Parts: sequence; C-alpha cells; structure tokens
Amino acid sequence: MITLSLAEIAEIVGGQSYDIPDPAVTVTGPVVIDSREVAPGSLFAAFAGERVDGHDYAVRAVEAGAAAVLAARPVGVPAIVVDDVVGALGALARAVVERLGTTVVGLTGSAGKTSTKDLIAQLLQRKGPTVWTPGSLNNEIGLPVTALTATAETEHLVLEMGARGVGHIHYLANLTPPRIGLVLNVGSAHLGEFGSREAIAQAKGELVEVLPEDGCAVLNADDPLVRAMASRTKARVLLFGEAPEADVRGEKVRMTADGRPAFELHTPTGCSDVTMRLYGEHHVSNALAAAAVAHELGMSVTEIAEALSEAGTLSRWRMEVTERPDGVTVVNDAYNANPESMRAALRALAAMGQARGADGGRTWAVLGQMAELGDASLAEHDAVGRLAVRLNVSKLVAVGGREASWLQLGAYNEGSWGEESVHVSDAQAAVDLLRSELRPGDVVLVKASRSVGLEKVALALLENSTEGEVAGR
Ligand SMILES: Nc1ncnc2c1ncn2[C@@H]1O[C@H](COP(=O)(O)OP(=O)(O)O)[C@@H](O)[C@H]1O
Ligand SMILES: [Mg+2]
Repeated sequence: MITLSLAEIAEIVGGQSYDIPDPAVTVTGPVVIDSREVAPGSLFAAFAGERVDGHDYAVRAVEAGAAAVLAARPVGVPAIVVDDVVGALGALARAVVERLGTTVVGLTGSAGKTSTKDLIAQLLQRKGPTVWTPGSLNNEIGLPVTALTATAETEHLVLEMGARGVGHIHYLANLTPPRIGLVLNVGSAHLGEFGSREAIAQAKGELVEVLPEDGCAVLNADDPLVRAMASRTKARVLLFGEAPEADVRGEKVRMTADGRPAFELHTPTGCSDVTMRLYGEHHVSNALAAAAVAHELGMSVTEIAEALSEAGTLSRWRMEVTERPDGVTVVNDAYNANPESMRAALRALAAMGQARGADGGRTWAVLGQMAELGDASLAEHDAVGRLAVRLNVSKLVAVGGREASWLQLGAYNEGSWGEESVHVSDAQAAVDLLRSELRPGDVVLVKASRSVGLEKVALALLENSTEGEVAGR
C-alpha cells in the first residue's frame, strides 16, 4: 500500500468520514478484511458476511492499530462509510495501482490459473520486485486486497482473475487494468453456471477486450476458443503453445521417466531446454504461458528456461508430491478438480507408476466429486472413471456420494476390473482402506473439487501416526 491520508481515501471511495478526529492521519499498513490480521496503520474493510459481520470487529481492529475502518455504517471508531464496501475497495485499488504505474499482468482461464500465476511470479521475480495473488484469492475482494499490497518498489503485479459469470472478468480487469492479459484455456469449470463452453469463452475473453492498444494479449494457440479471442482485442497478440504458429513454443515435448515435463522452449530470442521440477503434463501449457509473459517483459529464453526448470509449487495441494519414509508416494492434488484437471492428474499418476517400472508399486487414484458440472455431471464422472482404467491405474477409490458412484461405475463398465475399483462413503473410510492396503513403492493420487475437502485423506496418509483420525470428519 502506498501512504494515503484518510481524507484522500474518503475522496477516492466517495465515502463519509465518521468519528475521525484527524483526517490527515495516514494509512501506511495493508488493507485487511480479517481483524486478526490488522497491523499498525492498516485499513480494516468490514464486510457483512453470512455468519460474521466485520462491523462487530471494528473496535477491536482499531485497538489493534488500524488507522480506520472502511464500513457500511458508523461503528463508533474512525470510519469511512460507503454504501458498497466491495465497490469502495475496488475503487481504492484502482486509484493506488494507477498512481503506482506498475506493470499489471492479468490472467484467467478454466484450469491452471493458480499454477500459472505462481510460475509467472517465480519468473518475474528474477527481473524485479513482484507482487502476486496469494493462493487463489481471485475474486472481487481478493483481487483488490492483493493489488493494495503493492508498493512504490513493485515492478510487476500478477493478478489471477476468476469468473463465475458474465461480466466478472470485465469488472476485475477494470479495477486493475492489465497491460498484459493472458487467457489459458476454456474448459468446463463452472459449466453449470455458464451453460456452454461458448459462454465461458465469452466471459474469459472480457480480459482481452480491456487491454490497451500498446498492451499484449497472450493467447493459447492450442485452444481454438482462446485463439479466437484475438479478434476481440486492440492489443498485440502473442501466441503460446505447441502449434507451429505459436510465438512462444514448446517443441519435443516429453515427460521424464517420473512424470515431469521436459521440452525445448522457443521464443523470438532463441531456444533453450527446460526440464521442470513440477509434475504433470498440464504444466507444459502453464509453463509456455508463463514463458510468453516473461518474454513480453523482456526476459531472454535462457533466463526463462532456467527459471522454469527451477520453479516449484507456491500454493498448497496442487500436485504436491511427498515420499513417505516407507516408500509410499502421496500426490496431493486435492485443491480442486474439473474434468480437464482430473484427466491431467490421472495421466501424471500413470506416468509416475510407469517410471517406477514393472516391479515398482501400484498406482491408486483416490477421487471425489467434480462439482458444478450441471447436466454434464454424470457423463463427466463416468468418463473419468473409464479413463482411470484405460490408463491402467491399479485401483480407483471413489469417495463420497452419488458422483463417486458414477466414477466407480465408469471404471467398472470400462474394464475387466471388477474388484479393482471401489466406492467408499467418506474420507475416513478411504484412509482406513489405504492404511491397510498400501505397500512401499505405491503412488497415491488424491483429488476432488474443493468442496469435498479430500486433502484430509492426503494429510492423514502423511501423518506420522498410523492411528490418527481424519481431522474434521
Ligand atoms: N493447464 C491445465 N490444464 C488442465 N488442468 C490443469 C492445468 N493446470 C493445472 N491443472 C490442474 O487443475 C487443478 C487446479 O489448478 P489451479 O492451478 O489451482 O487452477 P485454477 O486456479 O484455475 O483453479 C489442479 O488440480 C491442477 O493439477
Ligand atoms: Mg485458482
């Protein structure tokens, strides 16, 4: 955050000052939405949530050092009162980013936003101070809060933008107008809410519509719906992918024996070899996207290749690979799931199994529901179950209710599997089963939509004790 007086903030957000003895007092700390995170000089933004009302914590926030509260009503302590706290937060972010003049990179897509944002951050950090979305805080609150952590030193601001409907990306992109806008892919995440892939493309493409003429639209050459967005922007287009026309291109793409992507990276500055530390072939596309952004910001192909080869995971529960002392490998990809990411993760699991050779262990896919698929839900769960069999995964453990039964039935119908796929009712049952069955050399993938909370299984398998219960069963 840059230093702003309460009077300046009130003017920017069009708010009324209440209980402010000295409007020249400045906000120097971060803008926070959780009163427990207040630091001296913070601005505490109070939201009325479903269960807690931030306004009830206003006094506590000021006692903890907040300079003032951004609120929807007077709260008895220094406050800037507005009708719409979310809108005010956005307006403040817009004003601050404008004053900073930092280069904003915005990215969206159906799958891989967080992974790619973390890669971009690791590349750009080598060039200069970079601020990026922590985890997945990509909505109308998380985005301005992140943007407001930028300071005068910040050279790059990398912002993940999520959409649950038409107009959302437009809103976010107007708060912090990007010079570089990246669209990764159009898949079926939130298909239920959007209705069709074309509707999703319409919504994701809002990002490139706001780019200025001297901006750059970074588009996936391998995804026809993304590539078609070139016609919706005034900005210059930079294509990434494996297609021959891609400006930033992966060639000789292969997987290492243990399931990590390796490829030859081509950019307009030359060519260099990349072998990633991250697992899963879906990272090829994410890496090429990140490389395109870094190229646009002036990094050479050798710098980019080196950074991509060293990059790790910054956000939790995304293909987090841990080997236990007894030789069982747990792949915690339980952060989220949709049909594309399920397929990518299953292929990574199969590759890791193959890398262990014929006398290596077995591969286990512990999978749960993919949420928000609307009418496509049955067919998509069925298809994922079938793919597990086709990839020769040793055992599918489907966890949960109706959707899990569709996963298991797909696997059952696809093969001669029978007993090699199993349906269990909850995380604890999965853990009990795995604890009695796992052998050294086995690889276990854990994955489902966020709402399922299947990371409980991975965390339980990684606990030292073998008796522990699944937390929060
Ligand atoms: N390019 C991609 N295509 C398909 N799946 C992907 C891709 N990148 C990541 N994934 C998978 O999608 C899931 C969500 O990844 P994440 O990076 O958090 O995406 P998002 O932020 O878009 O939800 C993870 O399980 C990951 O393994
Ligand atoms: Mg995300």
